[in-house]
Amino acid sequence: MSLKGKDLLDLHSLSPDEVAEILRTAAELKQKQKAGMEHHLLKGKTLGMIFQKSSTRTRVSFEVGMWQLGGSALFLSANDLQMGRGEPIKDTARVLSRYIDGIMIRTYAQRDVEELAEWADIPVINGLTDLQHPCQVLADLFTVQEHLGKLKGVKLAFLGDGFNMANSLMEGGAKTGMHIAIATPQGYEPKPEIVARAQADAKETGGSITVLNDPREAARDADVLVTDVWSSMGHEAEHRARLKAFGGYSLSSAMAAIAKPKAVVLHCLPAHRGEEISEELFEAHAGEIFDEAENRLHVQKAIMALVM
Ligand code: CP
Ligand code: NVA
Repeated sequence: MSLKGKDLLDLHSLSPDEVAEILRTAAELKQKQKAGMEHHLLKGKTLGMIFQKSSTRTRVSFEVGMWQLGGSALFLSANDLQMGRGEPIKDTARVLSRYIDGIMIRTYAQRDVEELAEWADIPVINGLTDLQHPCQVLADLFTVQEHLGKLKGVKLAFLGDGFNMANSLMEGGAKTGMHIAIATPQGYEPKPEIVARAQADAKETGGSITVLNDPREAARDADVLVTDVWSSMGHEAEHRARLKAFGGYSLSSAMAAIAKPKAVVLHCLPAHRGEEISEELFEAHAGEIFDEAENRLHVQKAIMALVM
């Protein structure tokens, strides 16, 4: 099995073995970095990072990760590229393929990332779209594995919006034999086609995917509790309506009491305390949450080292 030259657009497209290979490589690279051992696997290579949305973690972890691998990274704001003035994605893809060795892109439409990947001769990595956040979820899986020692059979409950994080969690959980319960208010459920294909994948690994409108039922006996902002990038204008709709979906100590006593709590960040998570629960689990943020670095280094 080789991931060399492959794109990472979503987790559904990876095999369970490929997910395991990324997590195994991440562990190896994390250990090397902590031990101060050189791991210049991408010496002389360049990653272009196209951002059409804001970012702290994704930008810094990809850029630093590339340096640690002996390569370099270019920050490309979509507004400053000619793409922002209408140059077609397919031309941008072919031009960048002549200069650099890989592209990370954060944008709105998953279709744009797919088009970029179709036309680029170099690997394309999805750094978040409205539909997917695969690098984040690989970091989440890695963090769960570190804290609980396994993924297979682990129950993970996600409370909140059936948006990019929920989709990628279903896909990643399905590949690793986890039991994923997604609880959203009515009208905010994940897309049925994403749920259906994750359910089919879960059948292959002994996992399961459940979508419900009851946060307490989802959280019951969970090994891992996950949430995300209620108003993602692009939804700012709906914030007031969303505060109302998501009212009962906050991760609080009371909600955590329904889960397993030592449940891990994750949040991809940035967090809105007092909305999707309480200050108290956030700080009680800050160790896990910032491990999760750190693990973006290790997991993305593994992805880049494997595909580029
Ligand atoms: N979690 C995450 O992707 O963070 P950024 O938006 O800061 O990159
Ligand atoms: N769902 C959030 C994730 C941020 C990392 C968003 O899309 O804004």
